[in-house]
Formats: sequence, structure tokens, C-alpha cells
Amino acid sequence: MWRPCQRRCVHSSVRLMKKLGGKTPAEQRWVLRQLRDPYVKASHAENFRCRSAFKLLEMDDKFRLLQPGHSVVDCGAAPGAWSQVAVQRVNSAGTDPELPSGTVVGIDLLNIPPLDGAHFLSSHDVTDPSTHAKLLELLPNGRAHVILSDMAPNASGFREMDHERLITMCLSLLDLAEKVLQPGGALVCKYWDGILARTLHERLSRVFGGVRTLKPNASRKDSAERYFFAKMYRKRIK
Ligand SMILES: C[S@@+](CC[C@H](N)C(=O)[O-])C[C@H]1O[C@@H](n2cnc3c(N)ncnc32)[C@H](O)[C@@H]1O
Repeated sequence: MWRPCQRRCVHSSVRLMKKLGGKTPAEQRWVLRQLRDPYVKASHAENFRCRSAFKLLEMDDKFRLLQPGHSVVDCGAAPGAWSQVAVQRVNSAGTDPELPSGTVVGIDLLNIPPLDGAHFLSSHDVTDPSTHAKLLELLPNGRAHVILSDMAPNASGFREMDHERLITMCLSLLDLAEKVLQPGGALVCKYWDGILARTLHERLSRVFGGVRTLKPNASRKDSAERYFFAKMYRKRIK
């Protein structure tokens, strides 16, 4: 006679076999990791578009960088989980009429499904000056309080090359900051750790009052992913 817990166990094993069927070993490892990941489960429960929402929530809980009424640029925004967090925190959907209402503009090379409270520039390259011009039109007074970047290139599998490409993308955010970030503003950018991280830190330190490295709990321990949190922006003096 089967006990209920044994029956449940057999059912979930059958479901698991179905999910893994026909997949390569690498794909099977990915499915298993997703199924076991508490942040994936929590993102489904809380209706976030992906688990990365928890990285931003954690950083924002600690540093309070997103305030009601703020204008935020979300670089590499697809599928839109960071924008969901930003919309909540800056009140850009006007959910709380007592609080000032902010602005969220998300940019990505890919399509970003619509989200109440956010403007999206889908199929746009953050590093392209023509994107900057469109962004200026969407931001109130052409100014942002915060630039967020969770951008990442498609990984080639060559660690050094991927690291260098992402650092180059992060450095391009300094041009964007010069155009839209207001004095005193903040920047959060993802990078993959490696030899050029110090160069990026040094370049950020030239124009921000403080720069620190963050590794949120939601960021997988085995990944080289890190974030720089730079605050107190001062414009470059030419
Ligand atoms: C890790 S995903 C971002 C996830 C997002 N923060 C979220 O919470 O939904 C990285 C994104 O960066 C985007 N990306 C990479 N290079 C880009 C570029 N030059 N301009 C705009 N987006 C870019 C990719 O298309 C990808 O969607």
C-alpha cells in the first residue's frame, strides 16, 4: 500500500522525467537548477518576470536608491523584472496617490513586454547615441536620478572575452550618465569579475563620490557576476 507522501514523490518524479525528456545534459542541468532555485519559485509567487528582481530588491533595501518620484533608466531591461521593481519603488504607476509619481524608462536590444508605469525602448542599443536622444525626450527635464544596468552580452563561453565585452558596455554608461544623470545621482551596473574590473572602478571613482562592489545573495555564488554601486555623481569637468 502506497503512503500519500510516496505517491506525491512518484508523481513529482514522473513530472520531472517529462521535463527532462529529450534534453541535452546541459539543458537537464539548467532545468534542475531552475527547479531547485528558491528565487525562481519566489519570482513566480510574486509575479516577477524573472529571479533577477530579487537582486535589485536586495540592493535597494540596503541602499534606498529608488525613491518615490525618482526618474530611473533601466539598461538591458528585458524581460522587465528590474523595471517591475523600479515601478513599485518610484511609484511610476501612481499606485500610491499620496506619494510623488516617478518615471521608469527601460531599454533593451530585445522586445520588452509592456508594463504599467514604464516606457520601454525595445530593439534599442544602450550604447547608441540615437537611443540617448530618445531617452532624453522620455525623461522629465531630460534628467535621471538613477541609472540601472543589468546589461549583459550573449556569453561566448570565453570568460576573458565576455568579461572585456561587459566592461566595455559598462564604460559606455559613463557617456550616458554625462547626458542624463543629474548631479548627486546614482548608477548600479553589473559586471563579470576579471582583470578590468579595477579599471572600471577607477573610471567610476573619477565621477562619483563613492563606489562599492556588491554581490547580492540572489546572485549565484558560482557566477562571476558583481555589481558596482556608484553614488553622488558629479559631472565631468571638461
Ligand atoms: C540579464 S538580462 C537583464 C534582465 C533584466 N534586468 C530583468 O530583470 O528582467 C540582460 C539584458 O541585456 C540586454 N543587452 C545586452 N546588450 C545590450 C545593449 N547594448 N543595449 C541594450 N540591451 C542590451 C540583453 O538583450 C538582455 O536582455
